[in-house]
Amino acid sequence: MTRFEYTAQPARIVFGPGRLDDVAAEVARLGRTRALVLATPGRAAFGDRVEKALGDLAVGRFDGTAMHTPVEVTVRALEELQRVDADCVVAVGGGSATGLAKALAVRTGVDQVILPTTYAGSEVTALLGETENGRKTTRTDPAILPETVIYDPELSADLPRPIAVTSAVNALAHAVEALYSPDANPVVDSLALDAVEVLAAGLRRLADGTDDLDARSDLLRGAWLAGTCLGVAGMGLHHKLCHTLGGSFDLPHASTHTVVLPQAMAYNADAAPEAMARIAARLGVPDAPTGVYDLVVAAGGPTSLRELGMPEDGLDRAVELATARPYPNPAPLTREGMTELLRRAWAGERPPSGAPLASAVAELTDRVRRSFDATANPRLAGLLADLVGRLHGFALDHDLRQDEWQTAIDFLTRAGHITTDVRQEFVLLSDTLGVSSAVDLLTNSRTPETTSSAVLGPFYVEGPPELAQGTDISAGLPGTPLHVDVTVTDTDGQPVPDAPVDVWQSNEDGFYDVQLPDLDGPVLRGRLRTDADGRLRFWSILPSEYPIPADGPVGAMLTATGRHPYRAPHLHFLIDAPGHQQLITQLFVRGGRYLDSDAVFGVKEDLVVDFVPRTGPTPDGRDVDGEWRELEFTFRLRRL
Ligand code: BEZ
Ligand code: FE
Repeated sequence: MTRFEYTAQPARIVFGPGRLDDVAAEVARLGRTRALVLATPGRAAFGDRVEKALGDLAVGRFDGTAMHTPVEVTVRALEELQRVDADCVVAVGGGSATGLAKALAVRTGVDQVILPTTYAGSEVTALLGETENGRKTTRTDPAILPETVIYDPELSADLPRPIAVTSAVNALAHAVEALYSPDANPVVDSLALDAVEVLAAGLRRLADGTDDLDARSDLLRGAWLAGTCLGVAGMGLHHKLCHTLGGSFDLPHASTHTVVLPQAMAYNADAAPEAMARIAARLGVPDAPTGVYDLVVAAGGPTSLRELGMPEDGLDRAVELATARPYPNPAPLTREGMTELLRRAWAGERPPSGAPLASAVAELTDRVRRSFDATANPRLAGLLADLVGRLHGFALDHDLRQDEWQTAIDFLTRAGHITTDVRQEFVLLSDTLGVSSAVDLLTNSRTPETTSSAVLGPFYVEGPPELAQGTDISAGLPGTPLHVDVTVTDTDGQPVPDAPVDVWQSNEDGFYDVQLPDLDGPVLRGRLRTDADGRLRFWSILPSEYPIPADGPVGAMLTATGRHPYRAPHLHFLIDAPGHQQLITQLFVRGGRYLDSDAVFGVKEDLVVDFVPRTGPTPDGRDVDGEWRELEFTFRLRRL
């Protein structure tokens, strides 16, 4: 059973091109009137734009933000904040601008509005890293979380490609590590996987030169989603390693992330197979670590610590530092493992693929799919190619072995052997896997004004006996008498006369006539026709719950999975009126057993109806001793 904790980080997000213009409204929304604008020295133009958009609300400006949020810079900014008597800060820039805003907020409680110009993601976390006398400290505090973030892709549109690439991979790392974090939970997983997908899409567009505002918008959205993960899930090896390398060898932050991420992923791949498989699926590659490496190469990002200026003789010390203190990580941290990881990262080698066979399978899949290229019917070609892709993907994802596949083949062979004219094990398999109901939904549920359909089931027999209205289809079999009084109309309520209605149901013991070879059938089935008012009346017996045939391979599957074989009590109808869409459905007995665990997933709420208990005189004067039931229902068909 899933158990998790998730604390949402309450921030207001304003997203879209041109949203910088909303900055004054956002400050006003916070009830603030005096903003100190924080900008990055080399990007003063952004500070100017924000100041202009703020108008009178801007009361000061500080352009001294610096990497790693040095405390001496914060002290100077604090003096400025107090001098101009600001009640909020508006920061425009990358991680440094956000860092300074947070450092001011945690000291003074001022509100923050952040306009990120990179993909740092820190603007949606309550974490703050500061440096003082060369030492980095981090802390977390609700006051650190910015109140409002304005994501305007125009602000990162001219971020030079090399910086955009490393910044996006930095964001990707938040999503990746969130997926195997001890704090992972379904909410974070969804955010992280979406982040992986959009960041990869954006990175591909940086790689192939189709980079535009849409691509930058993807990257920014990915950065936000990934930053949200960073705020709530603890990070592992990759982040600790980057922190250590950055601090000890003065390496550039985002570039270090870009080099280390594929190597750290490869290190953790065997210990976090599910996370890797999900990442690979979202990246659309067979193996996640090499997929990320290849993406970085394609986008022109750095792959080696050597090119970032790390000395080779620093590797031993890096290993020392990286293994000095334990922390949560999927794979245990070993000296040998870390030595190999750092050696590869330093040299920029492609990480070992966790799925050496994956590319061989992918190549095979491709060949099989292409074998359908000449198919004349495009629908058939598409369905087959996709089916092959999914089956191969299934085999790959589960590392399917020959004996397991043989078990599946044997299962289908037994299904074939047990299938006869009156026993359809493949339909039963489709039913019990919910495929019949899924296809039924897709085929028949597009018109809400018509009566819902339900699966046909294996016990329908073509051409049932024609019976007159008022017939008792149970032919005297034991059971509670049931008087059925149904009407067939179109969706405007107009009666459909002379409509052939096939009905069938099981006996009191749960068997259909076709299951009882000794029975002098057909019984409990027939074809009746509606009268001039679209009405149809006949007698039967109250249906009871029954097990679907469980003596074959499908029954073995149910037993192996701890499922019961019962169907909720129901009566089948097939209405095939000329000029109207055919309706195949079932009416379920309200209060019956297994309504919420029907073995074939066939129950729909609007098909659960009252089979009303009655005593005394019957509608057609038939003599009934004791209780009988009455079913009234109107079927609505779509006119063709
Ligand atoms: C039936 O209702 O007759 C039925 C439907 C699906 C599987 C087995 C039986
Ligand atoms: Fe049935």
